[in-house]
Amino acid sequence: MTATAGAPTWSGPAILVEGVHKAFGEVQALRGVDLAVERGHVLGLLGPNGAGKTTAVKILTTLIEPDRGRALVEGRDVVRSAAAVREIIGLAGQSTAIQEELTGRENLEIMGRLYHLDAKTRRRRSAELLERFELADAADRPTKGYSGGMQRRLDLALSLVSRPAVLFLDEPTSGLDPRSRIGMWEVIQELVSAGTTLLLTTQYLEEADELADEIVVVDRGRVIAAGTAQELKNRVGGDVIEFAVVDPHHLAQAAEAVSALSEHQPTVDAEAGRVALRVGASGSTSLVETVRRLDSLGIRTEGLAVRRPSLDDVFLALTGHGAEAGNGAGVASRRGRNVGHRV
Ligand SMILES: Nc1ncnc2c1ncn2[C@@H]1O[C@H](COP(=O)(O)OP(=O)(O)O)[C@@H](O)[C@H]1O
Ligand SMILES: [Mg+2]
Repeated sequence: MTATAGAPTWSGPAILVEGVHKAFGEVQALRGVDLAVERGHVLGLLGPNGAGKTTAVKILTTLIEPDRGRALVEGRDVVRSAAAVREIIGLAGQSTAIQEELTGRENLEIMGRLYHLDAKTRRRRSAELLERFELADAADRPTKGYSGGMQRRLDLALSLVSRPAVLFLDEPTSGLDPRSRIGMWEVIQELVSAGTTLLLTTQYLEEADELADEIVVVDRGRVIAAGTAQELKNRVGGDVIEFAVVDPHHLAQAAEAVSALSEHQPTVDAEAGRVALRVGASGSTSLVETVRRLDSLGIRTEGLAVRRPSLDDVFLALTGHGAEAGNGAGVASRRGRNVGHRV
């Protein structure tokens, strides 16, 4: 029996990573990572800046080679059979593949040419993708005038020109405003329902929750947890109540007052004057009780709210520290200090 190109003859997982290490000089970007993604499933690789997400994606998409371990896409080894891997994958990376002096349609046509599609197929696929990603109206304008959301959609469209069996999206929504992010989620969900195997990286638990069947949490080059979004949230302990005290002298007293409302200890951020408390599924009841207790002590608060767990909360629950960057990248260290700061 002869296999047609791209048809899966491999009976193992669509993506398999075993014991992969990668260092850049002194920096250990990956320190023994294992992953498996079943065909047609979506894996969310969740972690803060510097965790090693892009390094893992680059290895799987044959852009760089691992130092140790192996990685297979549909059974093809990313080092020994790199060309065969490239035939069946699509990648929308963190930096755009768009040529900005060209129009959206031209970008798609060029991508089709790279994959040796004939002219008719190129034209048809470009038109379909432009339509599907709501870029038809802007198709013949230079892409440098596109909004951030439009550029991301075009990037995704470019990764689909070859109809890949396995798709990699590296932080597909970072930097997008909330509306464009939701638009992007819808597009990705459509793809997934069509059966594409997808590995996507993100810094947002909410995004992994929305899109992924399974989540693998990475930190400093290692997998620190894996499971469904619900399983991870259960480890966090459900909802989080947080508030800032108006008078910093009341901080310790406020934390003490609310600590009886949960089996977990409150987290106190002295610098920001904030208290965060994991309260399980009883968010709104606990919120009322929090107000009552603080009120009876005459402690004034700001921004009192209950929210769903974030990546920071997951990190705190798993590691005892926030989602700090392993190597001091600016954005991530800011996130790290603000454990529970987003309301
Ligand atoms: N080409 C490179 N040269 C040196 N260090 C790198 C290089 N690529 C990544 N790193 C470092 O490896 C670590 C992991 O980076 P990366 O995989 O980009 O993380 P993430 O995508 O999760 O933010 C970081 O400390 C980063 O600074
Ligand atoms: Mg990255």
